[in-house]
Amino acid sequence: MLLGRRYLGVGLAESAELLCLTHQLFWLLGSVYPGDYLPLWRWLVDPFVGTEKKIREVSRRLDGFLQRVIDEHRQANEAKNLTDCGHGANRDFVDVMLSLPGEEGKERMDDREMKAIILDIFAGATDTSAVASEWAMAESIKNPKVLERAQEELDRVVGRDRMVQESHLRDLNYLRCIVREIFRMHPPGPLLIHHESTQATELMGYDIPAKTRVFINAYALGRNKRVWGGRRRRVPSRKALSGRWGAGRDYPQG
Ligand code: HEM
Repeated sequence: MLLGRRYLGVGLAESAELLCLTHQLFWLLGSVYPGDYLPLWRWLVDPFVGTEKKIREVSRRLDGFLQRVIDEHRQANEAKNLTDCGHGANRDFVDVMLSLPGEEGKERMDDREMKAIILDIFAGATDTSAVASEWAMAESIKNPKVLERAQEELDRVVGRDRMVQESHLRDLNYLRCIVREIFRMHPPGPLLIHHESTQATELMGYDIPAKTRVFINAYALGRNKRVWGGRRRRVPSRKALSGRWGAGRDYPQG
């Protein structure tokens, strides 16, 4: 959908390249880099540890990979003489971007902008979804009653001979509660994305100067006993759906 091709499980050299880059990217995104907080670290320690070199290398290879994807799409569209990059279901996300005008009156978005958007979505969508699914499965296996109830709901709403469709989701209340409980207990981005204050502000009695890096501890918020009580393990019951866990009440994740 995003790049117009299936990259995993097809045995291409490109798949291996993307998989390897993805692992390195998430390893780097997940690691704490002391140089962000101790400027001297960058000059005194990093030349020996080589973290910044690794970041530049992964960034260069990802840039090359995404440039190839964009070039291939552009060539394919030119070959088909589709100046507007085609219409309809066969268009993927890159085709759509190639057809859009750029900012400030530019005829098209430039490659740099497109690569940044693809990377943003790729990094935002892949690991988070995989981590949330893994936790949901692990917690369900650890809580057989919950698993049973989720299976019963799936059998009733979807049946055994069909795949789950988006249209089923509004009737899968118990499953929705499990997902929300997973976001609360195991947020895939425990500190969200780093934010920086644009101006000085005061929050709950704390003075936060302008240009301060702010970390939001979603993990701790989800386990705050004052808000959630002692519910460390419990998936909310169906009865609770009309209350705190009622339809439409999301645990914020992004
Ligand atoms: C279980 C799945 C997901 C979780 C838990 C999740 C969680 C988050 C979180 C915590 C943030 C940071 C919010 C902030 O600090 O302001 C974020 C941002 C973002 N997410 Fe997700 N996300 C998920 C799935 C997705 C998917 C499927 C996509 C795209 C198709 C996506 C695209 C993005 C993008 C583009 C941003 C960055 C927005 C920005 O640039 O500020 N996410 N997400």
